[in-house]
Amino acid sequence: MNQPLLLIVDDEAGVRQSLQMVFNKNFRVLEAKTADETLQKVADERPDVVLLDIVMPGEDGLAVLKQIKSIQPECQIIMLTGLNTARTAFTARATGAFDYVTKPFDVEELRMRVDRALEKIQLSRELERLKEEVGRKYGIDHVIGKSKQIIDVFKAVSMVAAKKSTVLITGESGTGKELIARALHYNSDRRAKPLVVVNCAALPDTLIESELFGYEKGAFTNASQKKLGRFEMAHGGTLFLDEIGELKLGTQAKFLRAIEQETFTRLGGTDEVKVDVRVLAASNRDLEQLAKVGEFRSELFYRLNVISLFLPPLRERREDIPLLLDHFLRLKAHEHSIAPKGLSPEVVDFFTSYPWPGNIRELENLIERLTILTPHETIMLRDLPASMRTTDRTATLKEDVLTGDRPLIDGMNTFERELIVKALQRTGFNQTKAASLLGTSRRILRYRIGKLKINEPEDGDTQVIPGGSGTACVRISHYGAGTA
Ligand SMILES: Nc1ncnc2c1ncn2[C@@H]1O[C@H](COP(=O)(O)OP(=O)(O)OP(=O)(O)O)[C@@H](O)[C@H]1O
Ligand SMILES: [Mg+2]
Repeated sequence: MNQPLLLIVDDEAGVRQSLQMVFNKNFRVLEAKTADETLQKVADERPDVVLLDIVMPGEDGLAVLKQIKSIQPECQIIMLTGLNTARTAFTARATGAFDYVTKPFDVEELRMRVDRALEKIQLSRELERLKEEVGRKYGIDHVIGKSKQIIDVFKAVSMVAAKKSTVLITGESGTGKELIARALHYNSDRRAKPLVVVNCAALPDTLIESELFGYEKGAFTNASQKKLGRFEMAHGGTLFLDEIGELKLGTQAKFLRAIEQETFTRLGGTDEVKVDVRVLAASNRDLEQLAKVGEFRSELFYRLNVISLFLPPLRERREDIPLLLDHFLRLKAHEHSIAPKGLSPEVVDFFTSYPWPGNIRELENLIERLTILTPHETIMLRDLPASMRTTDRTATLKEDVLTGDRPLIDGMNTFERELIVKALQRTGFNQTKAASLLGTSRRILRYRIGKLKINEPEDGDTQVIPGGSGTACVRISHYGAGTA
């Protein structure tokens, strides 16, 4: 905060003057003699702290107090009272004054009280700033994408964020369900109130009800204190139930009652607790299907599904991949204080066609890992984890040749060897059939097999190689061993 601003309101010039002298070192000090002048200065200058005389001729101190609060709610008001007006001072505090001091005042005490008021303002400003930052972080601007599918999600978020309706967010793991839940909360007028997240998969069945609804002291052994549940903590804000498909049926029933009636009782208690909570839920399981087989209550499914938001897997919105790559390359470099890495064109191609089974989370984690571990500026195919690359060895090969890391002849031999091995595998190691598959003669094939040092397989040598679709179990170990 720059120099804080203090407004002194008193009809007596002597009092104003002495207060000026006390505070003009650490504050910019303004003065006012009447109610009108006070309100004008509050509106124009927005003081941080007001020292307000409670009795001024012809004015109602309490009314002035209320008006100041309505013009500038965050301003801290310290009432100056005579001894005989101490009762009014109590009322003043109830009306929103921060504190009061009785005249004649002790300078040190007054200073201390003003400091305390300032501290309170600083804290609440800091909190506001943090909330804003968090809000910005989880605002819809931070959800990356330009595909039609993600734009439909943005539209839905902006339409339903401000409503109180329950939203069910579905999608595969890592598609951004929690991110969207946060965007819904921070784009609603509940943003200043808590967003409470409960991950139903992470809590054991035995704990989930006490987590959700809380318990009274003595509800069970170990319950030595009353404990608030997450429902109560979310009062005025949003409760987000992640992995709701994991709730057991009994808890589902209680939960349904709580969201329908907005009341519940704590475990071991009888008093009804009333809450105002917006409920969001997410699941990567098909709840409708679970409801059909009796593993999820259909009433709860219908209650949650009032509005449903489906987040499509990344492989169905590939045009978002380059944007996400760019976003995470910058973000991860920033988080680890290193220069952002680049991607070779082959890597971009590879990433754009890779199926991303773990969706955006997989992409994010991979970029983080590559950002930290790649020793050079540009990430190449050979820097990718081997498990990922098995699907496209020829791309790696091309890249190695084009970057001068392998001679052309080497690349050609490897390519030829792979094709011959594949052809042999497909034809049950029949050289005549393999030759015709490759459009060559058996004689030439035999010559190339010798040249490339491709060995005959031995019986019982099998190895699992991951293939594009499913996993193939083939005899391979001796084929391809040794380099050409
Ligand atoms: N469109 C997006 N733009 C930017 N970041 C995203 C996007 N979608 C997801 N992310 C990021 O990907 C990571 C995974 O997202 P999130 O945790 O929301 O997924 P989820 O669907 O809840 O996954 P799970 O089912 O595994 O819990 C998070 O770090 C999130 O910030
Ligand atoms: Mg999640």
